[in-house]
Amino acid sequence: MKPVLGIETSCDETAAALLDGDGTILAEAVLTQRAEHQPYGGVVPEIAARAHLHYLPGLIDEVLAKAGAGFADVGAVAATCGPGLIGGLIVGAQLAKGIALARGLPFIAVNHLEAHALTARLPGLVDGGAPFPYLLFLLSGGHSQCIAVTGVGRHRRLGGTIDDAAGEAFDKVAKQLGLGWPGGPALEKLAAEGNPAAFPFPRPMLRRAGCDLSFSGLKTAVMQSLARLPGGLPTRQQAADVAASFQQAVVDVLADRAAHAMAIMREEWPQARLLVVAGGVAANTQIRHGLTTAAQAHGFTMIAPPMRLCSDNAVMVAWAGIERLRLGLVDAMATDARPRWPLEALAEEQHATANGI
Ligand code: KG4
Ligand code: ZN
Repeated sequence: MKPVLGIETSCDETAAALLDGDGTILAEAVLTQRAEHQPYGGVVPEIAARAHLHYLPGLIDEVLAKAGAGFADVGAVAATCGPGLIGGLIVGAQLAKGIALARGLPFIAVNHLEAHALTARLPGLVDGGAPFPYLLFLLSGGHSQCIAVTGVGRHRRLGGTIDDAAGEAFDKVAKQLGLGWPGGPALEKLAAEGNPAAFPFPRPMLRRAGCDLSFSGLKTAVMQSLARLPGGLPTRQQAADVAASFQQAVVDVLADRAAHAMAIMREEWPQARLLVVAGGVAANTQIRHGLTTAAQAHGFTMIAPPMRLCSDNAVMVAWAGIERLRLGLVDAMATDARPRWPLEALAEEQHATANGI
């Protein structure tokens, strides 16, 4: 198989990558738009779309140049077509289709969540590639979901957040503590100086049946505790204690929810042994530690792709493209970018494609 070009523009990372047909990374680049969005304390969709439009063509040229390749060497083009912010998705999808049309190449519309899900199968991460089925715990700024990954395009959502995503909760609490955006890394750093038992924050959903998550009650409890502090603004030590106590509550909740998800997984797929953690929040050392311990207790092994492949990137998009291409799953030029695209819809669409519907 000739190299596959992957394009990612679903949120605030503009990314392109060229992977050989066997998954070897030939070149990759990610441009974060942090500086563009920082003044607003979060991602502004219109700014993101314009930035993708501005940066993407040059980034693709850069990736091809780094790989010592040209468009003539590319065998297929894969782009994230959802879920995500529609403006950015349109930019990436349409540019990918344009390249595919001009060069007569297959186009693969990649589901962003599936791209995160399949990253664990990239050669070199797990010996021989992560075998299906496995449990994916996706913890990012926009998603918190437990997903049974049983094949390419075959997923079952076992549970997910009923309000904020885990990263969103970190970002909102960090904002309360005046830590700037995105807040997760800064909050983790501050928490290292604090006492995780200082504030008895709630553990929403703990021991509740299933593996749904919720963070809004915890976030509110943090806000109320901060508001009650004498003198208004917290001292550095108080802020560190709040950060550490919040982080500990999140670790406890995630470990409990992962344990439930592993039990559900075991019932239906007794051969499942892997817990794959992905998304920016997987960078958090305490969270990794909590999930590793929970996995061990359930006879699972926890693996987290290296950080640059955990957060948004185009390597995962190209790889998902390769996995789909191997199964003959290519997409029509009429395929639309879509802001919402649940993973469960993939199996139905594949079935329709296979039957020529
Ligand atoms: O997957 P990701 O890079 O991108 C999107 O969701 O678009 O995840 C970003 C999220 C942000 O909410 C960020 O605050 C959070 O991941 N995050 C962390 C850490 N590093 C990033 N949360 C907790 N601890 C961290 N060390
Ligand atoms: Zn993502």
